[in-house]
Amino acid sequence: MSKIAIVTGATSGIGAAIACELVKHDFQVINFDLRLPSQDQVGVKSIECDVSQEESVTRAYAQVKNEYGPAAILVNNCGLQFMSPVEDFPKEKWDLLIGVLLTGTFLCSKAVFKDMKEAGFGRIINISSVHGKLASPYKAAYVAAKHGVLGLAKVMAVEGAEFGITVNTICPGFVDTPLMREQVKSQMQLNQLSEDEVLKSVFLKAQNVKKLTDPGQVAGMVSFLISDHASTITGEAYNISGGWGMGL
Ligand SMILES: NC(=O)c1ccc[n+]([C@@H]2O[C@H](COP(=O)([O-])OP(=O)(O)OC[C@H]3O[C@@H](n4cnc5c(N)ncnc54)[C@H](O)[C@@H]3O)[C@@H](O)[C@H]2O)c1
Repeated sequence: MSKIAIVTGATSGIGAAIACELVKHDFQVINFDLRLPSQDQVGVKSIECDVSQEESVTRAYAQVKNEYGPAAILVNNCGLQFMSPVEDFPKEKWDLLIGVLLTGTFLCSKAVFKDMKEAGFGRIINISSVHGKLASPYKAAYVAAKHGVLGLAKVMAVEGAEFGITVNTICPGFVDTPLMREQVKSQMQLNQLSEDEVLKSVFLKAQNVKKLTDPGQVAGMVSFLISDHASTITGEAYNISGGWGMGL
């Protein structure tokens, strides 16, 4: 198996934790991100890439193949959020979120799929969300894209099965990252509440375990899903959400 793993959005948050975990497993990790980190950690190479643009993904993956070889692992992680009532939701924000979260997952998977088929091995892990299974208000594009990722994953799981490719999805609840902290800040301003009050009354309300998930926990699930223990697990979507959305 090639020891090349691509993680999108590994400059920050969950992606950075996943990259760190994969380095521990001796992977050469390639980070596809819009923003390059000030310094790459040992074992991680960052390539500037906008996953929503096919030519950007094609160019970045050509560089990976040229410098390191084909990828065995792809983690479709990068993302962003935008909230607005449906009637005011700007079309350009809809296009942006669908472009990054859903089209980006498709484009990166498309780029590596042929090589994975030829190698007879591949592991694709998508970071969706509990919002890939249920809805909250004002998140039309995010919820639609995250639901779409689960559908796309199932198609790729079916197409990849006979070639040794598995495709699985992780659905976190609230994970302590910059993306999540931005949302806490805007709720604090909107509702004139303290950070603690916002966490309790908004973010952790639907969770049974009243604490935020650590990015390392998501990385640990990635580690399991790429291991031999998970070789017959495909097309599944696992929550890490303190019980929010349990049973879905
Ligand atoms: N943090 C949470 O509570 C939470 C919960 C559920 C799901 N998620 C999902 O986990 C993933 C990571 O989120 P995070 O909290 O670590 O966010 P983050 O903001 O900390 O990191 C996201 C990264 O994605 C990169 N990115 C954004 N647009 C990109 C593009 N077009 N091309 C390439 N890179 C791009 C950003 O530059 C950034 O480095 C996202 O898909 C998010 O939806 C997060």
